[in-house]
Amino acid sequence: MKALITAGGHGTRLRPITHTQNKHLIPIANKLMLGYALEYAHDAGIEEVGIIINEKDKSIEKAFGNGDSYGLKITYIEQSAPLGLGHVVKIAEPFIGSDPFVFYLGDNILVGGINKFVDEFQSNGSNCHLVLSKVPDPNRFGVAEVKDGKIIGIEEKPSNPKSNLAVTGIYIYDSHIFEAVNNIKPSARGELEISDAHQYLLERGYSITYSEITGWWKDTGKPSDLLEANRLVLDNIKDNRHGNIDSLSTVSGRVIIGEGAEIIDSNIRGPVVIGNNVKIEGAYVGPYTAVGDGCIIINSEIEYSILMNDCSILNISRRIEASLLGSDVQLLRSKSKPITHRFILGDQSRVEID
Ligand code: DAU
Repeated sequence: MKALITAGGHGTRLRPITHTQNKHLIPIANKLMLGYALEYAHDAGIEEVGIIINEKDKSIEKAFGNGDSYGLKITYIEQSAPLGLGHVVKIAEPFIGSDPFVFYLGDNILVGGINKFVDEFQSNGSNCHLVLSKVPDPNRFGVAEVKDGKIIGIEEKPSNPKSNLAVTGIYIYDSHIFEAVNNIKPSARGELEISDAHQYLLERGYSITYSEITGWWKDTGKPSDLLEANRLVLDNIKDNRHGNIDSLSTVSGRVIIGEGAEIIDSNIRGPVVIGNNVKIEGAYVGPYTAVGDGCIIINSEIEYSILMNDCSILNISRRIEASLLGSDVQLLRSKSKPITHRFILGDQSRVEID
């Protein structure tokens, strides 16, 4: 079995972060988002992975190389434009050949890996195995209609969903999926929809089985989804402390602290992950915060947030929460008169102040 993982598309809903980086490289609990998909593929016994990337995007290959560090052999497959998930599968046919494969959308994060789904695909002898999850807003997803334990219809982002069962971004196929993606037509928005390929299989009598995720799953399309995914992953971390914690500091709960980190006169309340060479002084870092390598937090308070590498938060009086800071962002208290707010913000930045 092989795996096909997506890392293309535009990530428009995650701007401005995605102006300068591919969304699949955004860290969740200080690990690159796509790394979770690679780990799950490896844990499921898969050795060969194809990653779909945008044309000329070298950033994913720079981050994951040939896959050695994950025990995988990675092939990068360029997609000329984001023409839909059906198109992704279509262009991957030369890589997949006649093997069964897991199709994994690289912006999906779930707890517990994919072994169970692969086992169910194999034991059912299915042509296609889908992973479903109940959601409050099914119109944002592919939606499955289920009757007597069988999927009887699938629609992409329907305005009147027939159920609350979203099709998540984990699919397992045999080679009949290529017949489907080669026969469907682009949707009104010009994409070859993966839901149309599933509907094609259903209509031709191919067997589509499913598992329902009972734990946690998130499609990280929006900033709030990233914060929730970060919370989910941090909820499952194990305590692992390096660096230096001085006697004036309190560190409670499950906390990962990286090499060379300095915690001085501060209160860290887990679950929290703190990267390498971070300095935290006179500060509070509260639950569900991920602090990237090289960050500096002094005389400030933060919780339920993601700080990418090399951010500085200095002398900010009000607690910061539910925030997503890209690399090398600086939040500083103004020292010189007049005391004003001064902003240097990239396109589509968001700031909320009182
Ligand atoms: O997350 C589950 C949902 O994913 C499903 O319920 C939907 O049926 C499915 O169509 C998909 O919907 P999204 O609107 O969330 O797909 P999105 O455009 O965000 O793309 C998902 C992943 O695939 C993401 O990693 C970007 C990548 N991608 C997307 C397209 C359209 C590509 O690599 N190439 C593409 O052409």
